[in-house]
Amino acid sequence: MDIEAIKNQITSDLKDLGSLQGLEEVRVKYLGRKGLIAQLTSSIPSLPDEERASFGRKVNEFKSSLLALLDEKQKAFLAGQEGVNANTIDIGMPGIAPELGHLHPITKIIHEVCAIFRQMGFSIVEGPEIETEFNNFTGLNIPLEHPSRDVFDTFYLATKDTLLLRSHTSPVQIRAMKSHKPPLAIVVPGRVYRPDAVDASHSFMFHQIEGFVVDTDITFADLKGTLEFFAKAVFGKDISMRFRPHFFPFTEPSAEVDISCILCKGKGCSLCGRKGWLEILGSGMIHPNVFKHVGYDPKEYTGFAFGMGVERIALLKYGIDDIRLFFENDLRFLKQF
Ligand code: DAH
Repeated sequence: MDIEAIKNQITSDLKDLGSLQGLEEVRVKYLGRKGLIAQLTSSIPSLPDEERASFGRKVNEFKSSLLALLDEKQKAFLAGQEGVNANTIDIGMPGIAPELGHLHPITKIIHEVCAIFRQMGFSIVEGPEIETEFNNFTGLNIPLEHPSRDVFDTFYLATKDTLLLRSHTSPVQIRAMKSHKPPLAIVVPGRVYRPDAVDASHSFMFHQIEGFVVDTDITFADLKGTLEFFAKAVFGKDISMRFRPHFFPFTEPSAEVDISCILCKGKGCSLCGRKGWLEILGSGMIHPNVFKHVGYDPKEYTGFAFGMGVERIALLKYGIDDIRLFFENDLRFLKQF
């Protein structure tokens, strides 16, 4: 048999090779002591002198290429047998579940409160965190000598026209009223800034939600009904509310709103400081001077406004006693919401 015939036979032998055992049989058939290659080699001495050398070289080349081919086949078989190969993906293996995050508790409260007011027909509006002195103070009837305008109580930015980090969300009242005519029913969630030292109840940055309604016949009764609906939706139907007279420059009359303590139900405990009541927000009827600043006729329009601290609502709702927990990004805390 000559080399070409043997090559053809090997190709067909390897084609339907089913196992490692079969591969071993092929090896013996060709490379074994009495195999076909050995037969070729043993025919060399009987060849004419001038053919021996070149035939011998051809047989050697053929033998080493066959060895390499069988080696490769064997490796492929072994890899298949082990089941896992660097180049294969086991689609039956369980996957690695990605860890899903969720919204921050403050964001959740903002969404919840906004949804309650949306139900009552309010629109959600946002404003910039860098404000003019006019929108943050003057337009809101806060006089120049008011302590909140002091540089120790507001972050001023060193610019030609006095800009500042808004100290409350109320300036969005000015923006919205200047750009829209009544009737208006708007809530404004957002960040506010004050140069306060951080402790359990203070932070240089916190969140507020402002709300206001303006139309031709808005009364204090509308304010009370709206806030009662809100407070019961957040804290439960069984709470009671009270309005305590207070002073804000941008509302007249003004009131602070309390709910009965959610822990002791009004009996008096450490959460409510033995008072039985928890303050939740400030409110009042929009001051005529505010209307004048935005170009509304105070004889034609009336309105109410309110503002609440989101962290405070969250502390009360979740029974937390330290505002810093909201800002430290400790997953052991955040994962509980
Ligand atoms: N802007 C007030 C503050 O930051 C909160 C507030 C009180 C807003 C009464 C109002 C309001 O709209 O009527 O303390």
